[in-house]
Amino acid sequence: ELGDHRHYMHKEIFEQPQAVIDTLEGRISQEHVLPSAFGYQAESIFKEVKQVQIIACGTSYHAGLVSKYWFEDIIGLPCSVEVASEYRYRNPVVQDNTLFVTISQSGETADTLAALQQIKQVANEKNVSTLTICNVPESSLTRESDLTFLTHAGPEIGVASTKAFTTQLVALSLLVTVIGKLQKRISERRETIIVKGLQKLPGLIQSALAHEEVVKEIAKNFSDKDNALFLGRGTMYPIAMEGALKLKEISYIHAEAYPAGELKHGPLALIDENIPVIAIAPHNDLLEKLKSNLQEVKARGGQMIVFEDEQSNVGSEDGLHVVKTTTNVGRITAPITFNVPLQLLAYHVALIKGTDVDQPRNLAKSVTVE
Ligand code: M6R
Repeated sequence: ELGDHRHYMHKEIFEQPQAVIDTLEGRISQEHVLPSAFGYQAESIFKEVKQVQIIACGTSYHAGLVSKYWFEDIIGLPCSVEVASEYRYRNPVVQDNTLFVTISQSGETADTLAALQQIKQVANEKNVSTLTICNVPESSLTRESDLTFLTHAGPEIGVASTKAFTTQLVALSLLVTVIGKLQKRISERRETIIVKGLQKLPGLIQSALAHEEVVKEIAKNFSDKDNALFLGRGTMYPIAMEGALKLKEISYIHAEAYPAGELKHGPLALIDENIPVIAIAPHNDLLEKLKSNLQEVKARGGQMIVFEDEQSNVGSEDGLHVVKTTTNVGRITAPITFNVPLQLLAYHVALIKGTDVDQPRNLAKSVTVE
């Protein structure tokens, strides 16, 4: 079943182009997101939504965080994202007309399910509707939600979530677009640009995967390290969080992610030649700011690995190793594409360290107890 792959995680990373194709299948036409993508019931619900509350854990939480940037930036709809284990125990204020979205690969995560069950108790009074973005049909979350969007990633066996995350982001980009369209927050032209970008995504992921050998070389610098720092701005901040989670989960190296602008508020004190710093540097409005953050790290002797796109031109120099990862600069497709080399990095570091990649110590694929 593994074919040419040594581990399920590796197989699943390489299945991502197909997982995206399968998730888009039947959900988009050449230029539009199909109205039925979230079920026929969705239309009347989405028209009334005033804000979105996303609840998830782990990697699924990171997908939610990326989409917060999209909801607010692209369609101007307020969006909050919280880990389920916090949300369920803190008596949150529930606003009227909230769309409550749970995101989960397994559909069985105990905290996410409990948060959903709790919100359903006030759903009528507050006009709250529930949607789950889930990879497993007939799971507890799909049974308990008003609306379901199934990510068609196929079975994910590796404990470290990879293709499920990518398809969750695809699902969220469709959700942003559909709500934006129904509430006339985006033009048809904008919708078509988003759809065209999504159609390019499998190819973009494929070209990011083609950098595996370069990433494998970089991984050699990590195996003797105890710590790593991931930096990003905008949507690349949650992508940095996801990169750090993958690295710690399967290689057991302590990794942290920071929004690059927070460096001088503390983590800069950590920087010396022993802590690799990984930065994600797409060519966008925040690039110049990120470049000055990189100089702050460099001035303290830090060793940096920068993933950039064809237009970023960060430029390699002493202590700063730049890898061109993608040709892409799309607001929706960029975070999805930049995540791929980080998955490969975690995988190759774990291979060198000889950990149990698919079944890391102390972890379960499906966390059905809190
Ligand atoms: O099945 P879920 O998406 O609800 O699982 C949530 C987390 O347990 C999961 O994403 C976990 O963080 C992964 N092992 C990360 O790779």
